[in-house]
Amino acid sequence: MSIALVILAAGKGTRMNSDLPKVLHPIAQAPMLAHALASGATLAPEHVVVVAGHGADAVTTAMAQIDDSARIVLQTEQLGTAHAVAQARDALKGFDGDVLVLYGDTPFISADTLERMVEARKTHDLVVLGFDIAELQPRYGRLVMEGERLTRIVEYKDATEEERQIRFTNSGLVACDAAQLFDLIDAVSPSPSSGEYYLTEIVAIANARGLSCTAIKCDEAETLGVDSRRNLADADALFQARARAALLDDGVTLMAPDTVYLSLDTVIGRDAVIEPNVVFGPGVTVESGATIRAFSHLEGCHVSRGAVVGPYARLRPGAELAENVRIGNFVEIKNAELDEGAKVNHLSYIGDASVGAAANIGAGTITCNYDGVFKHRTEIGARSFIGSNTMLVAPVRVGAEAMTASGSVITSDVEDGALAMARAKQDTKPGRARRLMDMLRARKAKTTKDKT
Ligand code: UD1
Repeated sequence: MSIALVILAAGKGTRMNSDLPKVLHPIAQAPMLAHALASGATLAPEHVVVVAGHGADAVTTAMAQIDDSARIVLQTEQLGTAHAVAQARDALKGFDGDVLVLYGDTPFISADTLERMVEARKTHDLVVLGFDIAELQPRYGRLVMEGERLTRIVEYKDATEEERQIRFTNSGLVACDAAQLFDLIDAVSPSPSSGEYYLTEIVAIANARGLSCTAIKCDEAETLGVDSRRNLADADALFQARARAALLDDGVTLMAPDTVYLSLDTVIGRDAVIEPNVVFGPGVTVESGATIRAFSHLEGCHVSRGAVVGPYARLRPGAELAENVRIGNFVEIKNAELDEGAKVNHLSYIGDASVGAAANIGAGTITCNYDGVFKHRTEIGARSFIGSNTMLVAPVRVGAEAMTASGSVITSDVEDGALAMARAKQDTKPGRARRLMDMLRARKAKTTKDKT
């Protein structure tokens, strides 16, 4: 069965108190919208349509990063959930399959739940996702069931006292054949109380047409919607707790799990060790058996098997560490490949560079990669030895098995096996230090005596 995802993301999110559209607020460093999409992606959808409204330009820009094949359609006026879904009609013209309606602000729907909705569609025309609410609250529509049959959905404000006691409530997610869905939406009339077109109305309409409707159940935690900064922080905390637990189950050691911050796309291999207080920004892969030591910050990088990073290291986008590389304290790596066994152990910046296998980069080495306008590359050869406090002024190449003397400012290429010394020659004056100190002390003694 072909699937199209329609993701509702036009709402303003007033309570977020923000210029950023609600669905772009991040959970685990990824826009909220990306979470629902990640679950939906497991169904291998043929189409993804995002219904944008408030902040549509920003949503369009963000979607280009998340899934550039997705179509963005505009709902210029927010006239209700049915009206929002209707905006996807043109984008899905000619599509013969099921539409799954998701909400951009409901990030925790699991792939498993979505699969169960698709499964239930094999026996029913319309499938709604519901959940049993722990505490009765006005926010959600009530699912009115007769056995397995969903007869209608009633919004709290329109419900009778008896219906308000129903615990089985509407998540908002719907699965239906595309043509059927748009046909049902055409029959929705505006709510007499709000004037909005409610998607929930299609259930009663489908029943009246003799179609079969049902509701399946998921955990309340999956339907957690975000509509305030407090919710957002809670949602992030919930994501972190689940993601840490999943890593522990997968055989990753987290020495102090509560202090490790993960992103939606963090990948960490079995038997990797993560020490306390490590932040994983977007796009990080850590292979099996690597160690990330305390207080390190990683984003957009790849750490291979057996590598050790930190404590207090920063890996920025494009840092590519081969097996058994060592990155030590107060070292920053950006857009640089380090070959097997290379070491940068202390207080260095390596950016826009390649470092050959088993090269040793001394403390305080800096690749001077930026001239104020352009970035330039530095190449450091295999088994080379870069002396402490070397400035490598890019573009520059240090050959294999070459050395630079400590404190050198290297401005031209160093051939393989050569030693480059680029610093002022040392001039040592025997006894001069002692004489200088004696003179200064005598001067101080005289000044003190003159004052008394
Ligand atoms: C909706 C359901 C309710 C369900 C609840 C679950 C209806 C009428 N009610 O209510 O039964 O329990 O969700 O959270 O459907 N949106 C648009 N365009 C619009 C209106 C909404 O894109 O014109 C989007 C919003 O951005 C949001 C989602 O649809 O992501 C839900 O809209 P919202 O207004 O929050 O619906 P609820 O009133 O919560």
